[in-house]
Amino acid sequence: MTEQMKSLEEYKASYKRSVEDPEGFWEDQAKTFHWHKPWDTVLKWNFNEPKIEWFQGGKLNITENCLDRHIASRGDQVAILWEANDPDQPSEAITYRQLLERVCQCANALKSLGIQKGDRVVLYMPMVPELAVAVLACARLGAIHSVVFAGFSAQALADRVNDASAKMIICSDFNNRGNKVIPVKAVIDEAMKKGCPSIEHILVHKNSDKDMALSDHEHWWHDTVDVQSTTCPAEVMDAEDMLFILYTSGSTGKPKGVVHTCGGYMVYTCYTFRNAFQYQDGDIYWCTADIGWITGHSYIVYGPLLAGATTMMFEGVPTYPDYGRFWQIVEKHKVNQFYTAPTAIRALMAAGDDIPAAYDLSTLKVLGSVGEPINEEAWNWYNSHIGKGKAPIIDTWWQTETGGIMITPLPGITDTKPTYASYPMPGIQTVFVDAEGNELEGNDIEGLLCIKFPWPSILRTTYGDHERCRQTYFSTFEGLYFTGDGARRDAEGRIRVIGRVDDVINVSGHRMGTAEVENAIDEHPNVIEAAVVGYPHNIKGQGIYAYVIVEPTDKSEATLTNEIRDVVNREIGPIAKPDKIQIVPGLPKTRSGKIMRRILRKIASNEMDSLGDISTLLNPEVVAEITKGALT
Ligand code: PRX
Repeated sequence: MTEQMKSLEEYKASYKRSVEDPEGFWEDQAKTFHWHKPWDTVLKWNFNEPKIEWFQGGKLNITENCLDRHIASRGDQVAILWEANDPDQPSEAITYRQLLERVCQCANALKSLGIQKGDRVVLYMPMVPELAVAVLACARLGAIHSVVFAGFSAQALADRVNDASAKMIICSDFNNRGNKVIPVKAVIDEAMKKGCPSIEHILVHKNSDKDMALSDHEHWWHDTVDVQSTTCPAEVMDAEDMLFILYTSGSTGKPKGVVHTCGGYMVYTCYTFRNAFQYQDGDIYWCTADIGWITGHSYIVYGPLLAGATTMMFEGVPTYPDYGRFWQIVEKHKVNQFYTAPTAIRALMAAGDDIPAAYDLSTLKVLGSVGEPINEEAWNWYNSHIGKGKAPIIDTWWQTETGGIMITPLPGITDTKPTYASYPMPGIQTVFVDAEGNELEGNDIEGLLCIKFPWPSILRTTYGDHERCRQTYFSTFEGLYFTGDGARRDAEGRIRVIGRVDDVINVSGHRMGTAEVENAIDEHPNVIEAAVVGYPHNIKGQGIYAYVIVEPTDKSEATLTNEIRDVVNREIGPIAKPDKIQIVPGLPKTRSGKIMRRILRKIASNEMDSLGDISTLLNPEVVAEITKGALT
């Protein structure tokens, strides 16, 4: 197993070594895994191209490290503990031995349908154990998984399938979420109608008792997977072979496929899981994220399984059948580490203190937060009403692109301070710069957060478009990885991540590019132009505020805004639907025709008194009109 730090002295020593001798430090961690052949070089890198290779020449399969390696010592230990959407449905406990068998069966099924090393497979599934099985089955064969969150629309799914030229889709028939039964396969059908020419087969997991007919190239999971042999040799992969693609929004264009590779991702997710959560044998660990996002990849599936942990998967939502569901599950399974997003904490906090008070939460040792800044009120509530002041909060900052947790307190080891992600993990060399790229030295500063040295799970490229990767992350400041986040460092060196400084909005911990939402709105036939900004939202962190210019029409404003929401729902999915849509006569523009988003952000945030100088605008008069009709 990778190192697990136990004291402040050990953290300081590990951090120091990771900076002075990064190769030696990470090599020692890597040696704790099963490799078919050791690496030739620990690290080769430059941030200009960029080209980053960890453990180059090393041969491995990540699933042997997640599964086979544990069979002798913990074959009968529960690997995945699954809790259904319906609280009356029995939980499912899958041991390491059973999980290995199920992964092998699924891998054999994929093989029988023609999937080979390097093929791309899209997974569009609810939070059922078969999703984790399918992820690992792809990795077993060396096929590249691309999990698409099952809340995305058919159009968004088709875009992702086509960008990766995926050969196969694995889906469910239906998805149980709260009191809704969502037709998943119907979304696949619609995506296929839009055109996904690379898809050869669709594997459908039955998650309901409803009947459904499948066509020739579609196969039921129970007919195809369950009949397979329970052994399947693991494909031997190079450390730098692709493990998966995960699409995420940026400030421009369509979502990009962030690429992670086998070796470095394995080492870093296991290392950070063991240290950030201080997982001990016998603990029950629960991350409430969806596997459709990076948090689910790294800290439901890979990190915990690599560390031989018992990881919970929950199919449902925090509010069904009532606002006590999370706490009921914590009590039922005696959860020790609990990892969720600030948006969930705020929603549950608003439901009242009596609800968590009705459950036994005394098993909780560590509380995690991820995905967006956690405000002080939510931090304090989480600390006192859930952790009872005894379970340290780890506010973990990281990104799809970083693969694993980058900045976090270490529970029981480093101190915690509300709203501060605090200290970098060993191996993470943070740098603060100003807008010109000058490094800001010392403490008590605010600036743009960059990283100056590679860590093992840094993204390697964006799928099919390396130049976009270079431009987005490595060209803003020479020699640095730019996170897109603004941050401050307090007098003692703790880091607080404030939020995005680019045109990305963080809605309930989900990243949404403003350009992407604007493009979706533009699809409405009456829309001439749209500008989208974020504004503070009590529960979601940020809400989506759209300013829209429409051509003259007989339609009422209510009809138009409903239609616009429908269009966004169709193009991207419900998570991108604007919270507020204001029909405006014009948008404030500079003389060169650029939309002044700064002003729109201020109006959306109800900060009309600090709009700043608007006299240089092309159309300053429009600002007063927008302000008059503002939905704040
Ligand atoms: O702005 C930061 C915010 O979420 C962004 C990354 O989003 P995504 O790739 O979807 O990954 C989310 C889960 C790892 C970051 O650029 N963010 C994430 N965690 C935090 C955060 N902002 C403040 N504090 C955090 N703990």
